[in-house]
Amino acid sequence: MRVGVIGLGYLGVTHAVAMASLGHEVVGIEASAERLGKLKEGELPFFEPGLAAGLADAIAAGNLSFAAAASAADDCDLYFLCVGTPQLSGSNAADTSFVFAAGEALAKVIDEETVVVGKSTVPVGTAASLRKKMSEIAGFDVKIAWNPEFLREGTALEDSLKPDRIVIGAWHQESVDALRNCYEKIIATGTPVIETDVATSELVKVAANAFLATKISFINAMAEVAEVAGADAVSLAEAIGYDERIGKKFLRTGVGFGGGCLPKDIRGFVARAEELGVGQAVSFLRDVDAINLRRRERVIELANEQLGDLEGRRVLVLGLAFKPDSDDMRDSPALDVALGLASAGALVTVHDPVALEALGDNHPQLERARDLDSAFAGQELVVLATEWQQYRELSPQAVASKVAARTIIDARNVLDVPDWQAAGWKVIALGRNVHN
Ligand code: UDX
Repeated sequence: MRVGVIGLGYLGVTHAVAMASLGHEVVGIEASAERLGKLKEGELPFFEPGLAAGLADAIAAGNLSFAAAASAADDCDLYFLCVGTPQLSGSNAADTSFVFAAGEALAKVIDEETVVVGKSTVPVGTAASLRKKMSEIAGFDVKIAWNPEFLREGTALEDSLKPDRIVIGAWHQESVDALRNCYEKIIATGTPVIETDVATSELVKVAANAFLATKISFINAMAEVAEVAGADAVSLAEAIGYDERIGKKFLRTGVGFGGGCLPKDIRGFVARAEELGVGQAVSFLRDVDAINLRRRERVIELANEQLGDLEGRRVLVLGLAFKPDSDDMRDSPALDVALGLASAGALVTVHDPVALEALGDNHPQLERARDLDSAFAGQELVVLATEWQQYRELSPQAVASKVAARTIIDARNVLDVPDWQAAGWKVIALGRNVHN
């Protein structure tokens, strides 16, 4: 099929490469000339394991090309809308203006046979408004469907090619057929397909992210209780996780969730439910958000307790990305903690295996450490904020001789505590009562 992918951010690039690898002839459509230029050269504008190789393969195989606007690629059978829906500034709601701008431009160049598929995460009801708007411009009933994407950063391409399920929300049978055709190879491997109405397909994505966020905040709420009750939230998570109805996944207690999806999606969900007059139904998500943000404050509080006063004290923060194998710092707990420590007066050094480049010249108050070994020199406190493999593998003995004081806050609960203690470290672990 000839497939257009509009918006080449995280989702769009991954989807374009995935579609090309399925054998489709893909045109990636992106308004930013800088981004487009990089992609044409096979260069990824962000870090994602395995994706650069996939991009190079697709370009070399000749089934991925690029265009600056849909008008320059008006002959596709199927267009995927993959533009961003960030949080509106000064509000909790999602900004759908990029979806409408892309849809309106597309409406001018498509014909009645063309199928337009939204993949962006949108407030429920967006697709219906978009259908109306695009149909007015096109002069016919535009075939719009919604097909949410569940990819995780770090495993984006694999998640796209081997999804747990494919959700298709559609008004027209032709859209369902086109999508089934497009995903034929994936469906043939046994991937379940859920055909549903468009509103449900829009809701599925936010509901899934709200559930995941709730699970993380649940265990982090238990961590708050554990900290004052002398209990251990890591053992607790393990114990409840053996119950198959609960499950172990997404019960890792620590400094909480961040990234471009979970935080903004739960906020957007609350805002949309309020507009629909059912705000009370999801008001618990405000607590989910609050619990999550409190964990960040807790790390700063613990640092303060350890050092007495943060003013002028040297703190090393390990990790900036919101999770390992990513350079994404959107709503990152690690970056937030580093900035919080700095604004409390600490002299903060930050290290991250990949995100320092994306940090650029932002936040000059954070001293950058390019080299992990030398980053420890003279530090009075270390905070492990993103669980990169490099940090899990640190030798407590080797770094002990470099620091000014052997105190570490494990904000992701990944260190072998007895091992670190044996090397003379005082270990403070979130949600745990470690006896030092
Ligand atoms: C998420 C969803 O998982 C994905 O399906 C959706 O398409 C986009 O949003 P992503 O943002 O890539 O994906 O990250 P995810 O792996 O879900 O992790 C989100 C955050 O939760 C990270 O900051 C991670 O560190 C944190 N987390 C995750 C925990 O704190 N504890 C856990 O047990 C799991």
